[in-house]
Amino acid sequence: MTQHLPMLQVALDNQSMDDAYRTTRLIADEVDIIEVGTILCVAEGVRAVRDLKALYPDRIVLADAKIADAGQILARMCFEAHADWITVICCADINTTKGALAVAKEFDGDVQIELTGFWTWEQAVEWRQAGVQQVVYHRSRDAQAAGVAWSDEDIAAIRRLADMGFKVTVTGGLALGDLPLFQGIPIHVFIAGRSIRDAADPVAAAREFKRAIAQLWG
Ligand code: 5RP
Repeated sequence: MTQHLPMLQVALDNQSMDDAYRTTRLIADEVDIIEVGTILCVAEGVRAVRDLKALYPDRIVLADAKIADAGQILARMCFEAHADWITVICCADINTTKGALAVAKEFDGDVQIELTGFWTWEQAVEWRQAGVQQVVYHRSRDAQAAGVAWSDEDIAAIRRLADMGFKVTVTGGLALGDLPLFQGIPIHVFIAGRSIRDAADPVAAAREFKRAIAQLWG
């Protein structure tokens, strides 16, 4: 069976729309998915989702709301603003996830469980049973800043999640040089935020990610 190439997602963790547009103007066509990052969600609210989807209707737009509670209400707010995908944080009650999934179904959207911080394999089984298809394996920004590197345990966990049938997204301070760590695992999406946004040439940075993905997974 042909393995699809992992997609590339740019994370817009900006504090204003103007700042986010500085990136999307350059690289919207270079990526598969535009993420309204948690930081931008808090700064600008769901209008960020609405405005970005209106500008880039052909891209998948993800609202990284990291929903922890009030799953139905928050999911509806995101999907009514035309998000394609949303995130629910791994510590949320399973009923929050189920509520978000039910709303996603109404809108033909999808829910990703964001694996930032503590979670268990029992939860992973529960998510599968609830109908979750996507998870985001996330080395947290603050953990990374404190010096936490990708480990063999991370790679094993990512492989196990993929073996369970999840479509796995990988993120968390990803640099181009990290990609070979995940070779051989059917990664669904790689997210790069700062590595693209803060690059001297964001277009070249996005293209380098795409080229490396094609080389490693093609
Ligand atoms: C932070 C996030 C980020 O959007 C994600 O980690 C990608 O950003 P970066 O590549 O800059 O770490 O979810 O909570």
